[in-house]
Amino acid sequence: MSNSIPEEIIEKITSKVDIVEIISKYIPLKRAGRNFKALCPFHHEKTASFIVSPQKQIYHCFGCGNGGNAFNFIMKYERIEFPEAVRVLADRTGVSIPRFQFNRNYSELEELYKINALACDFYHNNLLKVAEAKRAKNFLREREVSEEIISKFNLGFAQTLSDSLISYLCTKLIKKQLIEKLGLALMGSDGRYYDRFRNKLIFPIFDHRNRIAGFGARALDETMPKYINSPESPIYIKGNLLYGLNFASEYIRRLNQVIIVEGYMDVLTLFQFGIRNVVSTSGTSLTSEQVRLIKRLTNNAVIIFDPDKAGISASLRGLEVLLEFEMDIAIVNLPTGFDPDDFVRKFGAEKFIYSISQAKDIFDFKLDFLLTQYNAMNLKEKLKIISEMLLTISKVKNAILKTNLIRRLSEAISEDEETLLIELKKIRNIPLHEPENILKKNVLMNTRQAERIILGVVLEDKEALSEVKNSLCADDFREPNIRRVILTLFNMEIKDTARISNILCQFEDEPTRDLISEVLLEVDKLSDKRKNLFDCIRWIKQDNLKKTLKEIQQKIKLAQEIKNESLMFELVSKYNNLVKRQRQELL
Ligand code: CTP
Ligand code: MN
Repeated sequence: MSNSIPEEIIEKITSKVDIVEIISKYIPLKRAGRNFKALCPFHHEKTASFIVSPQKQIYHCFGCGNGGNAFNFIMKYERIEFPEAVRVLADRTGVSIPRFQFNRNYSELEELYKINALACDFYHNNLLKVAEAKRAKNFLREREVSEEIISKFNLGFAQTLSDSLISYLCTKLIKKQLIEKLGLALMGSDGRYYDRFRNKLIFPIFDHRNRIAGFGARALDETMPKYINSPESPIYIKGNLLYGLNFASEYIRRLNQVIIVEGYMDVLTLFQFGIRNVVSTSGTSLTSEQVRLIKRLTNNAVIIFDPDKAGISASLRGLEVLLEFEMDIAIVNLPTGFDPDDFVRKFGAEKFIYSISQAKDIFDFKLDFLLTQYNAMNLKEKLKIISEMLLTISKVKNAILKTNLIRRLSEAISEDEETLLIELKKIRNIPLHEPENILKKNVLMNTRQAERIILGVVLEDKEALSEVKNSLCADDFREPNIRRVILTLFNMEIKDTARISNILCQFEDEPTRDLISEVLLEVDKLSDKRKNLFDCIRWIKQDNLKKTLKEIQQKIKLAQEIKNESLMFELVSKYNNLVKRQRQELL
């Protein structure tokens, strides 16, 4: 995105701008040590968790997770796009931008959005005009989806023909590689390109800024899988967006509540029935990036639980990420066999709203569920209930709430509070801000923490970056968002004069910027960054090695089972070599 405006101009503005001055024009800032603090303008809060760092020229809110540089603040506050924010700051800093420089050179990202928009129009037109689309129309009619919803959500139809979209895009002079990059085209074994989506109902997936990031596609017959989606691309990162959020956000804010459902159809139908504060996770478990997006709008999440889904405990655990963000979580249990879509169509909106009002909070829900699964009279089973509940309670940050929950648990299973508290203290949750010299102190460390520390350090230290580049590769990083940023940094030419706030301009994706500003402020808590960096590099190496060893072990077992001796031999010697290397590195 930044490429459409010459980099020199952006650099010139960044070198003149002072983020403290800019932000204090909008909200009052108070000095707090090296930084400044304020009540976050992007979510409702009573204690200040919005930090501005004059040193790094960034801001970050530890409440809602939003962060970035001065451009990003203006974009967010004024609800404008990057080029406009550049113009605003250019004005304030007296940097002049020749007019013609706008609109020149599309960046690749903009091009990708444009292709998706073209594809979206193409599919939508198909649905309205092509004879073959009857199948899709029939499906929508059976599901009682209104014309209004079809056009609001821009639903579409992909033809059966093997390359109709590609041919259309070629008439618009779009490069095939870009179509492939978006996953709209696939290369066949004959070296030709084919449409990925054929004979499908198409759901364009909007990001929260109304741009089309990718597509979901539903089979119109019994083909399995029922849904296929765009693969991840530079503009589609599944865990970073929520389906429907672009339409729902104003209602979520107004009603101070978000309803989280599983499917595209659930969002559509609820919307049609006037329930508009709805988003969908598209069938995967919630990520912290997704929680951040909604945390800005509300603290109250209602989850519609799918009781047909296997493993209720596991799905509940997936929701605990909401607890980490101190959100209130209520869970609705619809009658077996009904998802929100089926339910509202059969019983209507009023009944649906009523069942939402009957939602149980996550603790009661989990406890009731466990009490049906285990016999609390049997000591062993009772212990199981307790440990499951304490695991959830340990995620709660607020001490008063915690005490209250312990009391509720103690009453429910008649065990005394003090004993429960002792057990609770034994559960060690890894703190978000890791104390320093982690490895030396032998404190429990996790990979995610190590990756975050590395990222935070290399972002502001060019030498540290080349250090990491020498000892790790991007694939060594497991957290996809971190891996993506690291990869970009590895491939980026960073000038000596570059400022972090400038580097931030390279990251178009908001959750990614939020991550960057967060880790940047987090590593400020470490006094010896270099030492921590090396510890973390070592940790990651060791951890990955361990993982590889485990994988080889499993392969050896398999080879044993199928009695493939030469393979076994090969694997065992590979294993031994790695173990040797591990020992050497430990020295
Ligand atoms: N999903 C997906 N890929 C799959 C299955 C599901 O992406 N292979 C996502 C889709 O976003 C889908 C949601 O998970 O909307 C729910 O899937 P499912 O429960 O299978 O949907 P149903 O309610 O059974 O089907 P329908 O869409 O017809 O209501
Ligand atoms: Mn459904």
